[in-house]
Amino acid sequence: MKCFLWRSSVFCLALIAAQGCRSDETKNDRKATGFTKTASEKMMENIEPLPGKNDPIDIEAAQQGEVLISYSDCYTCHKADKLSVGPPFKAIAKRYPANGAYREMLAQKIMLGGSGIWGSAVMIPHPGISREDAKLMAHYILSLKNNP
Ligand code: HEC
Repeated sequence: MKCFLWRSSVFCLALIAAQGCRSDETKNDRKATGFTKTASEKMMENIEPLPGKNDPIDIEAAQQGEVLISYSDCYTCHKADKLSVGPPFKAIAKRYPANGAYREMLAQKIMLGGSGIWGSAVMIPHPGISREDAKLMAHYILSLKNNP
């Protein structure tokens, strides 16, 4: 009887130890994924898309916008899918519905600059960019909505 008790308690201890190890492992795994997730990935996950309808993408406008953006200074502060001084263009696309009202709003922001929506960093104004061009740029940015 004594022997049985001793053996079963050893068995129990072994079980507890194994369980302990396993839960440590999962904890470490979780920590590891926390480390490997970049700030940009975390930001993308935390974006709540605003409600609103999405128009079909005007591919021609989006392509013109892409060219205008690459000839302007946008990429000094923005990247397509990485956090930089400004939010990734894909994060902006995830947040705002792709329709005329939001393109207008983003065009205003491109022309006037501002801060406070994504953090405290400041987007400089672009007085040299026309409203039409700013809207084409917004077309391109919002066209990234469904791009993986
Ligand atoms: C000096 C750095 C800088 C430059 C240059 C810059 N941006 Fe930004 N941009 C930012 C920052 C910072 C924000 C976030 C502003 C905020 O939180 O309100 C931002 C936000 C935006 C937004 C989202 C606005 C919103 O209200 O959610 C759009 C669209 C945008 N930029 C487009 C552009 C385009 C197009 C250009 C080039 C013409 C450009 N940016 C150039 C820094 C910059």
